[in-house]
Amino acid sequence: MLEKFSKWKASKESPASPSTPIEQMKVPKHVAIIMDGNGRWAKNKGLPRVAGHREGMKVINKIVRKANELGVEVLSLYAFSTENWKRPKTEVDFLLRLPERFLSIELPKLIEENVQVRLMGSTENLPDHTLKAVTKAVESTKNNTGLILNFALNYGSRYEISEAVKRIARDVEAGVLSDADIDDELISSYLMTSELRDPDLLIRTSGEIRLSNFMLWQLAYSEFWFTDILWPDFSEEHFIEAIRVYQNRGRRYGGV
Ligand code: IPE
Ligand code: IPE
Ligand code: MG
Repeated sequence: MLEKFSKWKASKESPASPSTPIEQMKVPKHVAIIMDGNGRWAKNKGLPRVAGHREGMKVINKIVRKANELGVEVLSLYAFSTENWKRPKTEVDFLLRLPERFLSIELPKLIEENVQVRLMGSTENLPDHTLKAVTKAVESTKNNTGLILNFALNYGSRYEISEAVKRIARDVEAGVLSDADIDDELISSYLMTSELRDPDLLIRTSGEIRLSNFMLWQLAYSEFWFTDILWPDFSEEHFIEAIRVYQNRGRRYGGV
């Protein structure tokens, strides 16, 4: 069924030719990606799940570079969800070691390429070593002016919204806000993405057609592109394909 659905989507939406140039004017400014399928990639090869995570990490720098080159302004990557704590401890530990592994190799390049690293998620339960590596990257790239690389780490949208509601309630109680001030713009300004525009394009790999608690508020009017490709197999060409499909969509925002 899923395969059929994907085929239908593909035949309906595949751009005419892979050589069609990207329309520079219509490059999505914010691309959000649910990087999924590492475990299945590893399983298909008879490897432990963590081998899939290691391979998936290598894809990130290729996509960051391509996004930067195409003029994408914000790239949000779902790296660890508030629900991923349910996984075996060895896998969780491995996943939470990945940011420092990635940054120990990539940070000098990110600095050089003018990328700004950001972190979105709850810092509460994150191990010190993870937090330290990411904080260092955020600090050392904060004056950069290029692509914003926004890592969603220990992120869950319902958690994010609950925290925002608590802070709004406190501000109403303190008299800083009145209930009449509460509108969608105000709510957006209390979210972890307060400084970012909403995603234009959401990509999810691995054939799962769901959001898994990712940016529920921010994705209200985003274009979605799903692919069966597993994250470790995701390439610059797939990324460009997603952008071409995006460029052929008509965004109406409820209008005509
Ligand atoms: C995505 O791959 C990485 C994270 C969720 C951290 P998965 O680990 O979910 O891989 P599958 O979905 O089990 O194949
Ligand atoms: C979503 O993938 C989270 C990340 C990619 C970090 P999951 O693999 O955790 O999502 P479900 O469990 O399939 O919904
Ligand atoms: Mg998964």
